Amino acid sequence: MSFPPGPRGVIEVARAFHSFTREPPAAMMRLIQHYRGTAGFNMAGERIVFLGDPELIAEVLLDKDGVFVKDRVTRGLSSLLGQGLLTSEGDLWRRQRKLIAPSLTKKHIALYADSMVRLAEKYASSLGDGQERDVAADMSAATLEMVVDTLFGTSLGGGQERVGRAIDSVMEDFQEIIQTWRRAFPEWVPFAARRRTQRMVAEIDEVVLRVVRERRASGARGDDLLSRLLVARDEADPTGGMDDRQLRDEVVTLFIAGHETTANALAWTLLLLAEHPELDARLFDEVRRVLGDRAATVEDLPALPFTEAVLKESMRLYPPAHIIGREPLRDVKLGAWSIPAGATVLISPWALHHDPRFWDDPEAFRPDRWTDGSTADLPRYAYMPFGGGPRICVGNHFAMMEAVLVLATIVRRVRFERISRAPVRSQFAITLRPEGGLALRVRSRSNASRGRSAARRS
Ligand code: HEM
Repeated sequence: MSFPPGPRGVIEVARAFHSFTREPPAAMMRLIQHYRGTAGFNMAGERIVFLGDPELIAEVLLDKDGVFVKDRVTRGLSSLLGQGLLTSEGDLWRRQRKLIAPSLTKKHIALYADSMVRLAEKYASSLGDGQERDVAADMSAATLEMVVDTLFGTSLGGGQERVGRAIDSVMEDFQEIIQTWRRAFPEWVPFAARRRTQRMVAEIDEVVLRVVRERRASGARGDDLLSRLLVARDEADPTGGMDDRQLRDEVVTLFIAGHETTANALAWTLLLLAEHPELDARLFDEVRRVLGDRAATVEDLPALPFTEAVLKESMRLYPPAHIIGREPLRDVKLGAWSIPAGATVLISPWALHHDPRFWDDPEAFRPDRWTDGSTADLPRYAYMPFGGGPRICVGNHFAMMEAVLVLATIVRRVRFERISRAPVRSQFAITLRPEGGLALRVRSRSNASRGRSAARRS
């Protein structure tokens, strides 16, 4: 058994690394296709493996033998997230997952639907016909408000903007650090970005720890996630809940994991709808038929299958979590290959979602593929916007509920048009974002368009 084939020699490897840092998924897809499913190379002493074979991906994500931990870059997020659910491992992760998952089940999160719709209505009704908006920034602000509301059951007043700005700044700096040669330097090297990160983390801590301590001291409990986490107990250790530090880490993790991903999913969806007016009209038809002139509720979700298909298809073309990484703790066999301990194993949902082995016409935006049976026989890991295995996104029901309700609420009132014809480029940051924001023009759903859609139905 040997290390997977791939670029060899200084020039080939430098070229592969350069294209990987500029456009990771496309570079991964090219190498995966060239080397028939799995490619590996050695970069400055670091072994990197790109996996494109759904069976091997399943082995890594299911991790039956407990060999894999998160990769080095994801672990690096712990400077911000501490030992929250995304970055912790082993017994701590198992305990925390058991404590947190019950608060994010479909049944429990139904409680948050009304607040999501209320905030989405507030946004949608603030839009005026002809206005130009940066929809990416709008979705980011709206999902931040929603996550704050569901986490804390209240707004944080000025604290919310402070935390939002600090998180954006930390994520930018983190991106800069990992995408350049600087990632080779140890943690203590005081680059400006690292110093700024430390300052911003201190700001986030101040706001979040204050809320955690106040809530613990007041004894007030509601349906918000923080209240649930404060009283969550492990069956094996019923006396011990989370201490303030652990709560801070989990709250900041939910903040980050639950905000930018959903915002990007919504922003890309609004772009795709602006580019496909005929699909936008069908979506409006569904929403009008189900909601009429009232606001959406959680009970409406089963009656909005096309809305859900639009989002699933948008997350196929633009998976917000475009890359997932793992590292084996010891040498491990994967199919025909041997992967050494410490290697970085990368899985790209983006590359899988665009792979012609699995998808008919992979670049086309075709929501109907999710309702006409053509995706029924896909391999399990050909579509994985939320990852898979025990570390599958714990917020996946939350995200889908939020995205469907927000989209339906926006579509009921307005549609968007492209302002420029220039293609919108993807920025492969920690999440997949529209580069430079996403400027779109608002169009109110006029009475005429409501009438046209009603006529089409009759
Ligand atoms: C469209 C929106 C979202 C996408 C695409 C997404 C995607 C993902 C993916 C791919 C993972 C697995 C990462 C890995 O295996 O290394 C993950 C993990 C996670 N997500 Fe999400 N996520 C979304 C929304 C949310 C929301 C709304 C929350 C919280 C309310 C959330 C919280 C988390 C947490 C805490 C983890 C770590 C779980 C663990 O390791 O046990 N995510 N997410």
